[in-house]
Amino acid sequence: MEQTFNKINRVGGTLSIPGDKSISHRSVMFSSMAEGESVIHNLGNGEDVKSTMCCFNAMGIEFEQKHNVFIVKGKGYQKLLKPDSPLDAGNSGTTTRLMTGILINQVFDSVITGDESLSMRPMKRIIDPLTLMGGKIESTLADTLPMKIYGSQEIIPIEYKLPLASAQVKSAILLAGLHLEGETRVIEKTPSRDHTERMLGLNITYENGTKVIHVSKKDYPLAKEYFVPGDISTAAFFIPLALLTKNSELRLVNVSLNESRTGIIKIFKLMGGNIETENIKVNSGEVSGDLVIKSSNLHNIEIPANIIPNIIDEIPVLAVTGLLAEGKFSVRHATELRGKESDRIKSVCFNLKHLGLNVTEFEDGFEFDGDVINHYPVFESFNDHRIAMSFGILSLLLFNGGKVNNFNSVSISNPDFISQLKIISR
Ligand code: S3P
Repeated sequence: MEQTFNKINRVGGTLSIPGDKSISHRSVMFSSMAEGESVIHNLGNGEDVKSTMCCFNAMGIEFEQKHNVFIVKGKGYQKLLKPDSPLDAGNSGTTTRLMTGILINQVFDSVITGDESLSMRPMKRIIDPLTLMGGKIESTLADTLPMKIYGSQEIIPIEYKLPLASAQVKSAILLAGLHLEGETRVIEKTPSRDHTERMLGLNITYENGTKVIHVSKKDYPLAKEYFVPGDISTAAFFIPLALLTKNSELRLVNVSLNESRTGIIKIFKLMGGNIETENIKVNSGEVSGDLVIKSSNLHNIEIPANIIPNIIDEIPVLAVTGLLAEGKFSVRHATELRGKESDRIKSVCFNLKHLGLNVTEFEDGFEFDGDVINHYPVFESFNDHRIAMSFGILSLLLFNGGKVNNFNSVSISNPDFISQLKIISR
């Protein structure tokens, strides 16, 4: 489906952002693992979270929806049921990688499959540590899906130094470790999002300044009530609309302000963005609050290497914001972007070149400057939700608007994107 965007003049009003995708996946997984009834408020409504729910439903978990609340009837320790067919993780890397850590500890074997994009994404990063724990996982020669996971009662705890900043890898090991009497330790040199350790209340220590996360069976989740804050990665698409249009003031309500995710706010502020936080609260260990964003004059800045894991999902929308800010845009140290739903370095560069900009692609990033030459652009989404929304936002800010091909992929994280734009357009 091709989506047309006409230039927007101003945004205003208040928008509630759907539940955070990372926290939603974890709420579904932890409440499915726990014995008894858990309640999840404001669960994300994207296809990825639905993929996690479908996988756990195939393993005997029931979900009941009452308005904006889900009731989950969890099975308890090692009580998931053997699925009748392969578990379909759809487009979702988080579903696949986190669930594998749980599946190696079950009393049955299972298979995970996914769509075309997910079937190309790297799984070696979880297969390696889970194999060290004694797990047996078969994948393709390229270490991709489909993966067969042999359930085992002989998984052992490990101490593992993460070779890359990845919350999915960290979480896969921690979820495997949750099933074991002995203590598993995960050593994290470069911080990545910390929802797993926060939501499970895991013990954290520091050795010479490096974070060590400790987990064992005593941390196994109990049934509880989860309050999922709004997704900051979804909010990030609306922020440039308010910053880059005149006389705009937008309030985004109850957005996650977890420090391992707020790098994008820091960067927008360093670029000159007028963004304030209000009504801060804490629920289930997660901080949230309102973001109030006002029209600003933006300039590009040097993006520090150590903030990259914190803003990894927001780099496409940051790049399109950079196009309308003063100066040259450059991002490096972001090779991880190549392993996302699409190769996001390639996808962004392709679309920027299509505008006639002067773009240089590096293995670990890209930079660009110059003027927009093509005034009637049709962008490609590469079936990647964050690429689709980023170039939708850019289209809204270009003089003649623009179009995005295969826009339906937005439903992976935010099916209501277009109706939300209507609410804030002035
Ligand atoms: C996620 C971790 C990140 C992020 C993804 C969600 C998570 O992936 O890009 O959208 O919920 O743990 P990596 O762990 O591969 O960096």
